[in-house]
Amino acid sequence: MAENSLPLQQAAVHPAVQPLSYLLGTWRGQGEGSFPTISPFKYSEELQFSHVPNKPVIAYSSKTWKLSSGEPMHSESGFWRPKLDGTIEVVIAQSTALVEVQKGTYDAEQRRVKLKSALVGNATKVKEMSRIYEVISGELSYVVEMATNLTSLQPHLKAVLKKL
Ligand code: HEM
Repeated sequence: MAENSLPLQQAAVHPAVQPLSYLLGTWRGQGEGSFPTISPFKYSEELQFSHVPNKPVIAYSSKTWKLSSGEPMHSESGFWRPKLDGTIEVVIAQSTALVEVQKGTYDAEQRRVKLKSALVGNATKVKEMSRIYEVISGELSYVVEMATNLTSLQPHLKAVLKKL
């Protein structure tokens, strides 16, 4: 190790990540999916936010399973890049090969992040997406909305998770 580098565990959370450090860790919970064109479904989820020491970025991943059978469902991963001015940009790659660039804002006091798609790529049906993540009484809840070629922007996913 070079003399001037710190061991990883001592490396600091970057100042840009600090306001969202309440997200860092592993979260588990359950969600419900719906959309006007599909049958509703229930899923379990594990979601991780980890920081990259001294970098202004949070690594994000989510895995889901069918609640009744444990069969794997959708997964996705990406990077969240908060800025000190309260804006944030997020890139997410989904297991369906759809990609999202999301832009929005965060409110560190309210523990709320609001995102709207600036780009949805490689999608057959999805035209637009929004995501809201909120921590209330220690529980992380989110709502993912989407618009498709046939349907206006409305909820596809809602979940509530607890930190491990
Ligand atoms: C259906 C997109 C996440 C499970 C769909 C459809 C789209 C879509 C476009 C088809 C809707 C239609 O035919 O009108 C997305 C996007 C997601 C996402 C953009 C990004 C977060 C998830 C997750 C799960 C899931 C996390 C499971 C936990 C399903 C299921 C269907 C569905 C079960 C119905 C499939 C069928 O009936 O054939 N999704 N989805 N989706 N999605 Fe998602």
